[in-house]
Amino acid sequence: MTQFFPSPHQAGCLAWEEIAVSVEDLWFAYREGKWILQGVHLQVPAGGFWTIMGPSGAGKTTLMRIMAGLLPFPKGRVFLLGHPLSGEPEPALRRLIGYIPQQLGLVRGLTALENVLLGSLARHPGWRTALGFFPRAEIERAMALLEMLDLADKADEKVFRLSGGERQRVAIARALMQDPQLILADEFVSDLDLPRAAQVLAFVHHLARERGLTVILNLHEIQLVQEFADHVVILKEGQVVFDRPALDLTWRLFREIMGGKE
Ligand SMILES: Nc1ncnc2c1ncn2[C@@H]1O[C@H](COP(=O)(O)OP(=O)(O)O)[C@@H](O)[C@H]1O
Ligand SMILES: [Mg+2]
Repeated sequence: MTQFFPSPHQAGCLAWEEIAVSVEDLWFAYREGKWILQGVHLQVPAGGFWTIMGPSGAGKTTLMRIMAGLLPFPKGRVFLLGHPLSGEPEPALRRLIGYIPQQLGLVRGLTALENVLLGSLARHPGWRTALGFFPRAEIERAMALLEMLDLADKADEKVFRLSGGERQRVAIARALMQDPQLILADEFVSDLDLPRAAQVLAFVHHLARERGLTVILNLHEIQLVQEFADHVVILKEGQVVFDRPALDLTWRLFREIMGGKE
């Protein structure tokens, strides 16, 4: 498959410490002989606000999971914040990554506050997981995050009672509770209507700028991508076919790349 545009971020353009995620010639298969990712290259600069797009089945979730250190891969190299990923569990590195899976991964029967507090376990793996044993400072921190996300009045509400938008914000608060350097979110805001999605994205964008976080989101809505992202990668059949500043992605080009599949 041909690349529509070559990457301006090919290896060598950025200094080492300026790169948050580097993916080099990454290959991945769930079953032998059926490659899902085929020689993916990416270099995400520290502080970048990137989106990954592409048709269903292109390999976006697989790539996200690998970048989150959750899936071992047979071929290629991935560096996160300067550390090579081996495919083995690496708790010290994991805690620097706030991963928000498509299903959000919240515990429905716990309250919003309790879910956010679970994010702090990544920083203190030795803690007792029994709720009620969280130090006061952590509870205050979790409350401050909920407040910032306009969820203070929902702190004691069980997650299954919250709306889709509220759950999304709880998941963000939980990821932030880890104090990550990198946020990876799969199918981010895809369950929300456009105005609500834009609101959540505006918040994350602001926060990322303020804290110097690197953000990689899998987003579908081109309007949102054009509004918030500084860079877009499009995956198709496990290959990067577009890797350019978001401003370069027009509707027409997007339709052409997707070949009618959106
Ligand atoms: N656990 C799995 N086992 C086998 N095949 C899988 C698994 N997860 C995903 N796949 C397959 O890998 C391909 C890419 O999936 P995925 O990364 O979820 O794509 P996307 O997120 O872009 O829709 C699809 O063909 C999907 O069916
Ligand atoms: Mg997916």
